[in-house]
Amino acid sequence: MKVMETSRRPLLAANWKMHKTAAEAEGFINRFRQNVADVKGMDVVICAPFTALHRLAALLGAGFLQLGAQNMHWDKDGPFTGEISAPMLKEAGVRYVLIGHSERRMHFAETVEMTARKLNAASHFGLQPVLCIGENEKQRQDGRTEAVLREQLLGALDGLAERDKGEAGLVIAYEPVWAIGTGTPARGEDAAIAASFIRSLLRQTLGEAAAKVRILYGGSVGPENITDFTGRPDIDGALVGGSSLKDEVFAELVKAVLSSGGRG
Ligand code: PGA
Repeated sequence: MKVMETSRRPLLAANWKMHKTAAEAEGFINRFRQNVADVKGMDVVICAPFTALHRLAALLGAGFLQLGAQNMHWDKDGPFTGEISAPMLKEAGVRYVLIGHSERRMHFAETVEMTARKLNAASHFGLQPVLCIGENEKQRQDGRTEAVLREQLLGALDGLAERDKGEAGLVIAYEPVWAIGTGTPARGEDAAIAASFIRSLLRQTLGEAAAKVRILYGGSVGPENITDFTGRPDIDGALVGGSSLKDEVFAELVKAVLSSGGRG
C-alpha cells in the first residue's frame, strides 16, 4: 500500500557529465523550453559542466529549472589546482551539487571520507547535496548491497554537522554502478527495496528528518521505464545521465513524471 505520509517534491535531475559546451547547453535549454512550457509541483535540475554554469544561470533565471554542479571541493579556497569550491558554485547560481558519483569514486579515487567532507561543506555553504551511493556488480553478486549502501551512506553522513542533520535539503541518489550507462536498469522492485533500506538508515541517523530526504533512482533511466521507479513510495525522482542529453528525451521524462503525479 502506498501512503503519502510526506510532501516530498518529486525531483528529476540531469547529470550531463563531461558533455556540452556552454553554447550547446544554451541551445538545449532554449529547445527544451519550447517543449516544456512550465512545470509546477516538481523540481527539475540540470547538473552541467562548470564552464556552462554562468551562462545557464543567466538563462534559467527564476524559472522552474534549477542549476546543479557535478562535484566540488570541501575547502572554501586554497592550493587545490583544478578544484572548485562551494562558494564559487553558489556565486555561479548553483543550488544543487552531486557528491560521490560512482564515476568520481572509480576514476578519481574519491573515498567515503572525502564524500563526508564534501557533504559537510555543501550543507555549510547552503548547497543542496545529492549524495550518490550504490553497489557494483561484484558487490551485488556477493550479497553485499546493503553493506555497501550502509558504509557509503553512514560514512558520508558522519561528516554532516549536527545542526545540518535536520535540514530538508539533503538528496540521496541510489545508483547501482552496474546500471549506469549500460542500458540495463535495476528492476523497479529492487530499486524500491534499496530505497526503503536507505530510508531506514536515514531514520537511524536523522530521526524524523529522514522523512524529508528525497531519494532518487539512477542508472539507465529512460522514458520507457521512469515511472516504474518514480511510482515507488520511497523513490522521489530520478538522476538521469544518457537520457538527459537530448532535450526532447529529457522533456519526455519530465512529462512522464508530471503525468504520473510525481509518483504512481
Ligand atoms: P545513465 O547515468 O542514466 O546514463 O545510466 C546515470 C548517472 O550516471 O547518474
